[in-house]
Amino acid sequence: MALLEVKDLHISFKTNAGEVHAVRGVNFELNKGETLAIVGESGSGKSVATRAIMGILASNGYVKHGEILVEGKDITKFSKTELEDMRGGEIAMIFQDPMTSLNPTMKIGKQIMEGIIKHQKVSKEEAKVKAIELLTLVGITDPELRFEQYPHQFSGGMRQRIVIAIALGCNPKVLIADEPTTALDVTIQAQILELMKDIQKKTGVGVIFITHDLGVVANVADRVAVMYAGRLVEIGTSNEVFYNSQHPYTWGLLASMPSMDAEGELFSIPGTPPNLLFPPKGDAFAPRNQWALQLDFEQQPPMFQVSSTHFAATWLLHPAAPKVQPPAIVVRLRESFSSEGGVLD
Ligand SMILES: Nc1ncnc2c1ncn2[C@@H]1O[C@H](COP(=O)(O)OP(=O)(O)OP(=O)(O)O)[C@@H](O)[C@H]1O
Ligand SMILES: [Mg+2]
Repeated sequence: MALLEVKDLHISFKTNAGEVHAVRGVNFELNKGETLAIVGESGSGKSVATRAIMGILASNGYVKHGEILVEGKDITKFSKTELEDMRGGEIAMIFQDPMTSLNPTMKIGKQIMEGIIKHQKVSKEEAKVKAIELLTLVGITDPELRFEQYPHQFSGGMRQRIVIAIALGCNPKVLIADEPTTALDVTIQAQILELMKDIQKKTGVGVIFITHDLGVVANVADRVAVMYAGRLVEIGTSNEVFYNSQHPYTWGLLASMPSMDAEGELFSIPGTPPNLLFPPKGDAFAPRNQWALQLDFEQQPPMFQVSSTHFAATWLLHPAAPKVQPPAIVVRLRESFSSEGGVLD
């Protein structure tokens, strides 16, 4: 059984202007020990979809339709108390700004111990031993000394390490990291990503890693889900999404990656995402898509199967669709994969 299964998830927000259709039919699963990256531009619904998994939507938001199965149990049917038990237990979340998750007035050792005591049912002494182990695991030196310090005595990157230690203290099966490195500088980002990879190997926790930046996921994710305007437009293994992408939106994201800027022409996808008060009826990306077919404007494309692990929602994949020439960067990536097995780690 998958650790987590999201089925036809629809999430809306009630606002004065009307209903915002933030998530519009999302399906994916997360297996044990796997890292799934969710990528997409700002507003595509990455945070909303994962907040629903944690049961922490804003008060005007609600799951309109669909199921979120955690080890087979549908958490959309959970009571408040059941959700509270699950949060920080089966599922833990790390946010972009570590200070939002840390209590500035409490020593970090105590903050790590709290979750351990609550979710692992151990004594204070045992919790302290575990907390120090966790500080070591997340790469904090002098853990006994650091245990007694307050959040303000740590740098941003170290605070994020502490937040990760707190999350792990609850022994989660699923760890959701919502842009955990965006607020950090590039070197620290790389260290945190390395740390998360390492922790995953050691603990087998399933990770959902959210980011704007397709470049970041290349090295961390087993699979990548590309989200646009509240829907998944493409999902596959990292190799499939990098080297054999099928949806023009994914092409746009690949072409916008600074590291892909071989010819010095940094691309940015023209136009802006649709207003989710009035989602369009076809592929929401069609108005920004130079390869869009008439049908893309009119009818929502289904997820066409590319391989047993790779799916994309574009009418370009219909057997009767015209064959189009993808952008040069995509052609280059496809060629690099068939000749050298690609450039990813
Ligand atoms: N409380 C709310 N009320 C109304 N609309 C909301 C609310 N929260 C989120 N939304 C809308 O839901 C959509 C998805 O937002 P979400 O925060 O999931 O985007 P995101 O992909 O995480 O973007 P970013 O990369 O900027 O974090 C957006 O259109 C946003 O405006
Ligand atoms: Mg977000």
